[in-house]
Amino acid sequence: MQPPAPGTLRILHLSDTHVTGDGALHQGTVDTTAALGALLDHLDGLDGVGLVVVSGDVSEDGSPESYATVRDLVGGWAERHGAAFVTVPGNHDQRDGFRRVLFDGHVLGEGGRPLMHTMEHHDPAVPVRGRSVVAGRRIVTVDTSVPGAGYGELSATATEHLRAALAEPAPHGSVVVLHHPPLPAPTSLHDALKLRNPGDLAAVLRGTDVRVVLAGHYHHHFAGSTGGVPVLVAPGVANDADVTGRYDEETALVGTGALVVDLAEDGSLWSTPVRVPRPDADQRALHLDADTAARIAAAFGPS
Ligand SMILES: [Fe+2]
Repeated sequence: MQPPAPGTLRILHLSDTHVTGDGALHQGTVDTTAALGALLDHLDGLDGVGLVVVSGDVSEDGSPESYATVRDLVGGWAERHGAAFVTVPGNHDQRDGFRRVLFDGHVLGEGGRPLMHTMEHHDPAVPVRGRSVVAGRRIVTVDTSVPGAGYGELSATATEHLRAALAEPAPHGSVVVLHHPPLPAPTSLHDALKLRNPGDLAAVLRGTDVRVVLAGHYHHHFAGSTGGVPVLVAPGVANDADVTGRYDEETALVGTGALVVDLAEDGSLWSTPVRVPRPDADQRALHLDADTAARIAAAFGPS
């Protein structure tokens, strides 16, 4: 791949790593730690990455062990490449375990240097929030997870955090990282588990210096916009949703990928999707029939 142009911030955007603490296979089919390792190995020669992002569903089980695995693998990659490392919880994450290992999600700063954190007790009901600056860009993480649920919500607390973070423009603009994308969902199950109030996010973002929103959750690459701001959804590390299947069923294929997002000094943006070939590619990683998908949607969607 071409090296980033001078002044450009290159972001390696990963999502939905779904790593397990005990090595259990994700959905009984995929070794997500191995998939993450294979992806990072494949990307080892990538030039000029200044920031690595994991936009939620970092862990499958919320265990501190799973977060430590991601910190070691992704944080290790970022450190070796002189890149910052920022992450945010998704619906599978648990704030306690996340905070214990990854603090406010801003793990490494510019150049891959560890950021200082004080260990504070936080009520798990309080969304994880953080911000840092990488190459003159303000990176703001917004926790859209709802404890015990699968759908996403921009809570009043998270809205306030985002509004306050964006109050003054940053030298080269801002990047917002969150899990549930403010975009239409590809299947009925994901529709039940989507961001409930995308209009509230659009209202906060409109007219600000935010150059891009980086999201995950759909396990497939999508591009759109909200409030005049581009939205990029990274493909899943754990598996790849089959968006051509029946709307009321849920099927995912074995496969892993990422986005390489280049953010130029003048605010222009381009993104290169990377898909990592696997010897077992395109076998089913997951299939839920319509009844099962509806049952999960009822259990974890808004009541
Ligand atoms: Fe998710």
